[in-house]
Amino acid sequence: MNLKQTVGIEAANYVKDGMIVGLGTGSTAYYMIEELGRRVKEEELSIVGVPTSIASRKQALDLGIPVKSIDEVSHVDLTIDGADEISADFQGIKGGGAALLFEKIVATYSKQVIWIVDEAKMVQKLGGFPLPVEVVPYGEEQLFRLFEAKGYQPTFRMINTFEKKITDCGHSIIDLHLDTIEDPFVLAKELDHTVGVVEHGLFLNMADTVIVGKADGPLTIQASKK
Ligand code: A5P
Repeated sequence: MNLKQTVGIEAANYVKDGMIVGLGTGSTAYYMIEELGRRVKEEELSIVGVPTSIASRKQALDLGIPVKSIDEVSHVDLTIDGADEISADFQGIKGGGAALLFEKIVATYSKQVIWIVDEAKMVQKLGGFPLPVEVVPYGEEQLFRLFEAKGYQPTFRMINTFEKKITDCGHSIIDLHLDTIEDPFVLAKELDHTVGVVEHGLFLNMADTVIVGKADGPLTIQASKK
């Protein structure tokens, strides 16, 4: 079993009968959804999934997990999702899989959030992983130049040499190569107030629990939210 699989299965244990569960996106969340599918089938676990991407929605439906959109549920009990980088104070970068917008919306309306990662993603400070910024296509080249001028070393997310990646919501992604983010809260505020930015991958004070995949087994850490 690989580390992503161990944390995916471990996190799925937190899901109880009757819960409305936010289903994250990515190669780690994949294993969690597989395990929930197994429990639905073999243990008659009754849940409703709220997927954070078209891919996770399809996976859940294929496994027989009933799904609803975020607007069809009154609340979300628990969201389990992957992350690209988690700092020592449990702030995160997400969006490597381009699903950051739906992921942030679902996490925002969740009573509890669990992140599942392998240990390589635990860092002292954020920024080694390029920060995804989802932008509306109109004016995106202007925005790109603005980020360049600020020294953020932007690159458009591409699917091949000629085509930009387009998110489930029809937006582009600009990745910022920052190396180290000294104050994620200051940068988040700046991006929140930048015209044309739909959302960014700084997920701050969002995780309640982090499950880290280690060679000797998953380590569960309670994150103290500020
Ligand atoms: C999707 O947009 C992302 O936020 C993922 O949750 C994140 O990139 C982690 O993905 P992996 O589990 O595939 O590394």
